[in-house]
This record gives sequence, C-alpha cells and structure tokens, in this order.
Amino acid sequence: MRIKRVLVSGGAGFIGSHLCARLLKEGYYVICLDNFFTGSRENIKKLIGNKNFELIEHDIIYPFWKDVDEIYNLACPASPIHYQYDSIKTMMTAILGTFHMLNIAKNTGAKMLQASTSEVYGDPLSHPQKEEDWGNVNPIGCRSCYDEGKRCGETLCMDFNRQYNVDVKIIRIFNTYGPNMCENDGRVVSNFIVQALKGKDLTIYGDGSQTRSFQYVDDLIEGMLRMMATERGFTGPVNIGNPGEFSMLELAEMVIRKTKSSSKIIYKPLPQDDPKQRKPDITLAKAKLEWEPKIDLEEGLDYVIDYFRKELQN
Ligand SMILES: NC(=O)c1ccc[n+]([C@@H]2O[C@H](COP(=O)([O-])OP(=O)(O)OC[C@H]3O[C@@H](n4cnc5c(N)ncnc54)[C@H](O)[C@@H]3O)[C@@H](O)[C@H]2O)c1
Repeated sequence: MRIKRVLVSGGAGFIGSHLCARLLKEGYYVICLDNFFTGSRENIKKLIGNKNFELIEHDIIYPFWKDVDEIYNLACPASPIHYQYDSIKTMMTAILGTFHMLNIAKNTGAKMLQASTSEVYGDPLSHPQKEEDWGNVNPIGCRSCYDEGKRCGETLCMDFNRQYNVDVKIIRIFNTYGPNMCENDGRVVSNFIVQALKGKDLTIYGDGSQTRSFQYVDDLIEGMLRMMATERGFTGPVNIGNPGEFSMLELAEMVIRKTKSSSKIIYKPLPQDDPKQRKPDITLAKAKLEWEPKIDLEEGLDYVIDYFRKELQN
C-alpha cells in the first residue's frame, strides 16, 4: 500500500516538531518544510535519518510544489517577540505562505489543516470564546501583523474551499506549552519556568489578574490529527485548547512551588492589546472530534520543568 505523504510547514518549530514525530509514529511519510526562523534542527534531530522523514529548507512566502495527500500549515512565528521582529514578513508568511500551501492543496487534491489561533478573537467580547464569535481585534496595532494575518489566513482557506472545493480544516489553537519551546521567546510558561530555574525574578505584566488557559502539546497534536480525519466538507473552525483557566499570578506561584525556587514575582506594565481573558469553549471539539484535553496544568508543568532543567544543564 502507498504510504500517505504529509507536508508540515513549520515542522521544525515547537508544535511542528511534535506533530512530525507523531505523524511518523502513525506511519506517514513526512515532509518538513521550514526556513528555521524560529524553528531549529535540534527540535527534529531525532527524526533526521528516518527513511520516512524529509527535511526541506524553504521560505513559504515563495511558491513551493510537492505532490502530497495532506498539508498541515503551521509556518508562522507565534510568540510576540518573534512575530513583531519583522511584522511585515510575519503578515506575508501568514497570508502569502497560506496562499502557497492552499495552491498545493488545490492542485493535488490534498486536505489542508490550517493552524489558526485564539488571537483571532482579540480582546474577546464574550467568555469563554466560541467559534461563532467574530473577534474584537485592533487592525492597526503592533500585534495586528499576527492577529490579522491569521484572520486573513482563515479567510483564504474558506475562499479556496468555496471557489475551488479545497478540503480545508481550520483549528484555532489556544495557548500551548511543552518541550521544544524556545527558552527566551517571551511566552509565559517557558518564561516563568526558566526564570524560576535560574533563580531570577518572575515577571508579570500588569497586575497578574489576566487569565489564560494552557494546553499541553500532546493534547493539541491529538486534536490536530482528529480534525484532519474529519469528513470532506467539515471546515471548522474548531477551538483546540484546555478550558482550565488560570491567572498569571496563579501560574507564577505554581511554577515557583513546583521548581522549589526562591525567585520573587515582579510586576511590569501590560503590553499593548494584551487580552484580559482567554478560555476556549470546546463544545464543538468534544462533539465533532470526540476530543478533550487529558493533561492538566499540574501534570504538564512537571514535564516542561523537567525538559528545561535538562536543557539548562546542557
Ligand atoms: N504555541 C501556541 O501556543 C500557538 C497558539 C496558537 C496558534 N499557534 C500556531 O501554531 C503554529 C506553530 O506555532 P509554534 O508555537 O510551534 O511556533 P514556532 O515559532 O515554534 O514555529 C513556527 C515554525 O514556522 C517556521 N517559519 C516561520 N516563518 C516561516 C516561513 N516564512 N517559511 C517557512 N517556515 C517558517 C519557523 O522557523 C518555525 O519552525 C503557528 O502557525 C502559530 O500561529 C501556536
């Protein structure tokens, strides 16, 4: 039987590396496409050498062609530090990159899963966020390159679906954490853990009352595979996240407790357009994908603390 060929754009990044590993385990031939802007060979070093794994260095703002059965479009910097570093490039990646991936899907008949984000809800007007919420997003702020880029990516997916019948599947990923996150890209879970392990102060932006929900990466990957397996015509969007809600202060205290750190908590001003609350309504994912997260924050943090402990020792 012919092995299914899957293209993973952004496959050397945090989420992409876990996805590539899982797809190989499931018996797929995996083509990992990455320009290594935020991803690294280190993340995928265990996969290199596998006969079913192919690594291609390519920037998806330029056209690309490969005959594949499925595409997971993940390529895009995801942390504010990285996506604001070259905001125009971020927007081009989110829009032109998605356009190029959709063209492959159009020409090969491949299904395409689009890694969208809870950022499309902006500073949400309702809580928890449901897929039918249209979002409250600033179109001209310094986060807009990412938020609006991702919104436009969703639009392109739906237009390729309506115009060319491309089988697209949109998921809106909520805050995800796990091994292979960058140590210093400003994302709160890795930030706090690394600060605590180094005995440095934990920085909270604002008064720490803003909430987020945190999903362990393995749960997300399971949700992605289930979404890809849905029938033709089911486009989503579907929220994939863990509805457990924690304030930044609670998270900081949990990390200090778990790492047994002597670090203190310090406060800095809130960045522009930082949403006050974020929590997914996962009713649709439960019903349609029979999916819900299995790993709670207490358990997931243990895995990531372990990971960063080893990384820092190295
Ligand atoms: N991590 C989260 O909490 C989260 C939440 C919502 C959505 N997402 C989405 O999931 C996807 C993966 O996020 P992540 O957390 O793994 O981020 P990441 O930065 O670790 O991974 C992104 C990958 O894309 C690559 N990339 C960036 N621009 C590219 C380009 N122009 N051409 C080719 N490759 C390029 C990077 O080198 C990197 O390997 C992103 O699309 C992001 O928007 C992530």
